[in-house]
Amino acid sequence: MQDGYTTPDGRQIGPVLLDLKNITLRFGGVEAIKNISFDIREGEIRAIIGPNGAGKSSMLNVISGFYVPQEGEIWFKGHRRGPMKPYEVARLGLARTFQNIALFDGMSVLDNIMTGRMNMMKASLFSQALWWGKAEREETANREQVEKIIDFLEIQNIRKTPVGRLPYGLKKRVELARALAAEPRILLLDEPMAGMNVEEKEDMCRFILDVNDEFGTTIALIEHDMGVVMDLSDRVVVMDYGRKIGDGTPDEVRNNPEVISAYLGVAHE
Ligand SMILES: Nc1ncnc2c1ncn2[C@@H]1O[C@H](COP(=O)(O)OP(=O)(O)OP(=O)(O)O)[C@@H](O)[C@H]1O
Ligand SMILES: [Mg+2]
Repeated sequence: MQDGYTTPDGRQIGPVLLDLKNITLRFGGVEAIKNISFDIREGEIRAIIGPNGAGKSSMLNVISGFYVPQEGEIWFKGHRRGPMKPYEVARLGLARTFQNIALFDGMSVLDNIMTGRMNMMKASLFSQALWWGKAEREETANREQVEKIIDFLEIQNIRKTPVGRLPYGLKKRVELARALAAEPRILLLDEPMAGMNVEEKEDMCRFILDVNDEFGTTIALIEHDMGVVMDLSDRVVVMDYGRKIGDGTPDEVRNNPEVISAYLGVAHE
């Protein structure tokens, strides 16, 4: 178990990649996260669920470096991670999407996806300005990778379209494409299927599973649709009022009485 295990459907789950220990996050008097610990294993699809305001997005923001918790430790691949800026976390191989779509509406799909590669462009400004050597090779590699993702997510036909003109479901897919452009080891998705119709949800589920399967990407996602969570995830963390009230396989959390009374038993949006 320590080094990994095989799931009932034959997928390989590796050792712990990200370990969150006793995380507490406060906004003034509000404790958004109260002493929460859980881990994310290499290759797994890990869901975070819970009612509105439970602290789920705050938790993703802690993982991605947008918020620095007042207490607790974050360990990445067996090393303790100090306070980091989001771009530093991105360089460790984390990419994310946002609960509210954060794309550039006036820019094309292709250009939006290219912005996902920004943090990977390591050539100096000097060589970029002269368009020499390394910068040129990087630009070519960037284009190739972006084209690969466009094919993978089946959005060739909208590559030149300004994002502002796209329907909601496709915008979400472009946001996923931009995150994938960074070639992340860990992908954080904040409600990737919120507001989608059934068909769009099915597509998004398939893409998430394919990303995990083909690229071996570890995925942590927040999702309200329990059917989706049960279908997709290997393990589920359940939050309520900033606390962790459940953690286990979909079946384990589904049968956890505290989870049922706090979340599963009630209607929510
Ligand atoms: N930047 C912030 N400043 C102040 N309070 C915040 C901030 N971000 C979140 N909170 C508060 O922290 C708590 C948890 O919010 P969070 O957005 O993490 O919940 P959530 O589980 O993602 O909810 P939802 O399902 O509605 O997206 C809420 O009480 C919220 O008002
Ligand atoms: Mg949220």
